[in-house]
Amino acid sequence: MHSYGYRANALLTFAVTLLAVMCAMASLSDNRNSPSPFAHVQVLNVNWFQNQPSGADEVSMAMNISADLQSLFTWNTKQVFVFLAAEYETPKNSLNQISLWDGIIPSKEHAKFWIHTSNKYRFIDQGSNLRGKEFNLTMHWHVMPKTGKMFADKIVMPGYRLPEKYR
Ligand SMILES: *[C@@H]1O[C@H](CO)[C@@H](O)[C@H](O)[C@H]1NC(C)=O
Ligand SMILES: *[C@@H]1O[C@H](CO)[C@@H](O)[C@H](O)[C@H]1NC(C)=O
Repeated sequence: MHSYGYRANALLTFAVTLLAVMCAMASLSDNRNSPSPFAHVQVLNVNWFQNQPSGADEVSMAMNISADLQSLFTWNTKQVFVFLAAEYETPKNSLNQISLWDGIIPSKEHAKFWIHTSNKYRFIDQGSNLRGKEFNLTMHWHVMPKTGKMFADKIVMPGYRLPEKYR
């Protein structure tokens, strides 16, 4: 006859093993889900565009950011962190990446949205490289699962350009 303690221990071991198997299955089934997210950003207006006394170019833009990230959500998704970055090349750096806006999407119901906003963070260059500058707007996201590995991806929206003149 097994003692009570032994049986309790065996039961606990079984429960922990079962939990581990379920977690593994959860992250596996999650990996098979191939999401098809959508993002689009329209620059509605350049509010102002200046060369600061420090010598750095800075711009403020009004944008309409729309996205449908609902397909990133499964039952294993805790939340999704998104940020919109301006990405451009300068003689000094092959990639300058400036975060303009970010947000946390708590659920699938909130994952389809549009927002009319000016950049939340400063769009400021290290120098005076922004006049007539071509840039990409890239929507980056990090999916935080309830269990398993976090994953990240992005949508690159190329073809934006800043004005030739300060205003
Ligand atoms: C923003 O974009 C969405 C989707 O394209 C559109 O329905 C909405 O009317 C736009 N809002 C503004 C202020 O342009
Ligand atoms: C902008 O996007 C285009 C097309 O995807 C890509 O070739 C280019 O390298 C991107 N520019 C930067 C600075 O990331």
